[in-house]
Amino acid sequence: LNRGARAKRQISTEKASIPFNTRLVILYGSNMGTCETFAGELALHAVNLGMTSDLMSLDSFLDKTDVVNGCAAVIVICATYNGTPPDNAAKFIRLLEKEPDKVAEIFTDKPFTVFGCGNSQWLRTYQSIPRFIDKTLTAAQGKRLTANFLYGDADSTLDDDFQAWKFAMWEGLSDSLGMSGASMKPDGGAAGLEPAYVVTPCQAQEKFETEKHIGEIRSKWAIQNGLFLGKVLKNKELQSANSDRSTHHVEIELAGAQKYSAGDHLAVQGGNPLEVVRQAAKVLGLELSDMFHIRKASLEAVSSSIIPEGAKLSVEMILMWCVELQQTMSKAQLAILMDRASCPYEKKALEAMRNAYNVEVVKRKRTLIEVLDAYNSVQVTLAELLTLLPPLRPRYYSISSSPLATAGHVSVTVGVVRGDSPAGRLHLGVASNFLASRKVGQLVGCFVKDTKSNFRLPAAADVPIILVGPGTGVAPFRGFLYDREASKATGTAVLFFGCRNDDDFIYREELRGFKERGVLKDMHVAFSRKLSGRKVYVQHLIEQQSEEMLKMLEAGAYIYVCGDAKHMAPDVRKAFAKILAEGKGLPLSEGAALIDELTIQKRYIEDVWA
Ligand code: 2AM
Repeated sequence: LNRGARAKRQISTEKASIPFNTRLVILYGSNMGTCETFAGELALHAVNLGMTSDLMSLDSFLDKTDVVNGCAAVIVICATYNGTPPDNAAKFIRLLEKEPDKVAEIFTDKPFTVFGCGNSQWLRTYQSIPRFIDKTLTAAQGKRLTANFLYGDADSTLDDDFQAWKFAMWEGLSDSLGMSGASMKPDGGAAGLEPAYVVTPCQAQEKFETEKHIGEIRSKWAIQNGLFLGKVLKNKELQSANSDRSTHHVEIELAGAQKYSAGDHLAVQGGNPLEVVRQAAKVLGLELSDMFHIRKASLEAVSSSIIPEGAKLSVEMILMWCVELQQTMSKAQLAILMDRASCPYEKKALEAMRNAYNVEVVKRKRTLIEVLDAYNSVQVTLAELLTLLPPLRPRYYSISSSPLATAGHVSVTVGVVRGDSPAGRLHLGVASNFLASRKVGQLVGCFVKDTKSNFRLPAAADVPIILVGPGTGVAPFRGFLYDREASKATGTAVLFFGCRNDDDFIYREELRGFKERGVLKDMHVAFSRKLSGRKVYVQHLIEQQSEEMLKMLEAGAYIYVCGDAKHMAPDVRKAFAKILAEGKGLPLSEGAALIDELTIQKRYIEDVWA
């Protein structure tokens, strides 16, 4: 963080008790920006308290480990994705796995604390990476600032968890600096809102034409990962006309050097749906066609911004392409709105909302725009709104094609997200609606996720594979099967697919084709709503095939599971554990241990999502 900011700070009597030159090292591991934002918030708060900080990703830290010399503490904020580290923490984690002593040596005698960010729907791998960092550092030197490892759950109480950890962390730091705990209270939330942009009305310069300008809007993630503009080659509804849901098969042309493997992900930089953009413009009291010249307020401001510096943009374009409009409002955002309410009744109501934040905001999935719309006395300007809202993130899709079968293009299988939120707001998935509406010939900004992922076919062609993918979870397996067919793999493949009924039996003909051509030995389809009164799920069919499954596992089969993390993946795991236990005459717990063993051997592989 800008150390010059120290010069500007006001040191109050309370803050003056912090020893001169107190410096923190704040490290983050973050793909989507949550941990990075938290880390930035903390660094800012440290400056306000009269400290300085070095803020960087865990991987960048490996080139600058000297920063720990003379620092007061090392603070790590890190996420996990399917049990894997964030991209900018992967090297650090590898080093920690291979040479824990070397890492421990870097941190010798440094007080540290780790805050884990995760989503508890990923039951098994929840918090695995931050917990691993904490465990290794604790084992090495045990100078943790907080009594326990603390973490936050993005599925429910992340904001509160973060506040609780900050409190414990500041207390621990005060103790470690030999000061009274009272001198470093965490910030209360609304520290005011300093606009990060200077926004001035201007005349229309040029109308935004998606096909012409789409490449100008690039998130930091997209730039780092090599965003390309791919032409849509095919866009097809996969569900039958009777279905009340929609799943699209979208094929996108690859640009020149882009490469991928079956099992990789495609990140798509979409745009907010027009209905959502309209509502946001309405709360600002602006027309979609109003034009603004946008500059950053300072050099350091909004490093993650995706708004091109100095651009002249319409309100429609800014709100469609640059910021998240439908995320659940954070506690800090709510605190700012509360601060802004000029009507005392509204202020009170917002205060009540803040006091019941988890019930009123998190559970009801209320967005900032929704609340601005409902509370008229709260006014924010466009510059303030852009400061409050995070940049529009790309969304990741499992690739459903194989480069061996269809060189030059990549396909994704997109469940279109559309439904009412618990508070009655129409929620429209950003990338899924964007992709579904793209016509053949139009462009999509995307990049292949350079996965260090395990979700890859076995290297040897004769290894049997068991594929479990209900719903859009079947996507990577379509790619796998085309891959195995093209490479003339000899290993047996068995697929378990699940759907409600014939209306959402996606890729039916193609999957039957694989069976007819012998690429699939068997395909077992679980219909959950076809027979009244009886839900059949993939795990039921897996159990019915216990003999075959045992045989395949004994022959060295790999098991792949893709789809829902919260219910399906654990149920499927249990089914396999039961098969192994019963097959080998062992107690159930030992069956589960065998599955854990297969997971470690990377023979039981999950790509699951919340
Ligand atoms: P349901 O919606 O009828 O409950 C793809 O979404 C399929 O996965 C649907 O048929 C869905 O059934 C099913 N599904 C829902 N929960 C599941 C679970 N815990 N395990 C396996 N399949 C599940």
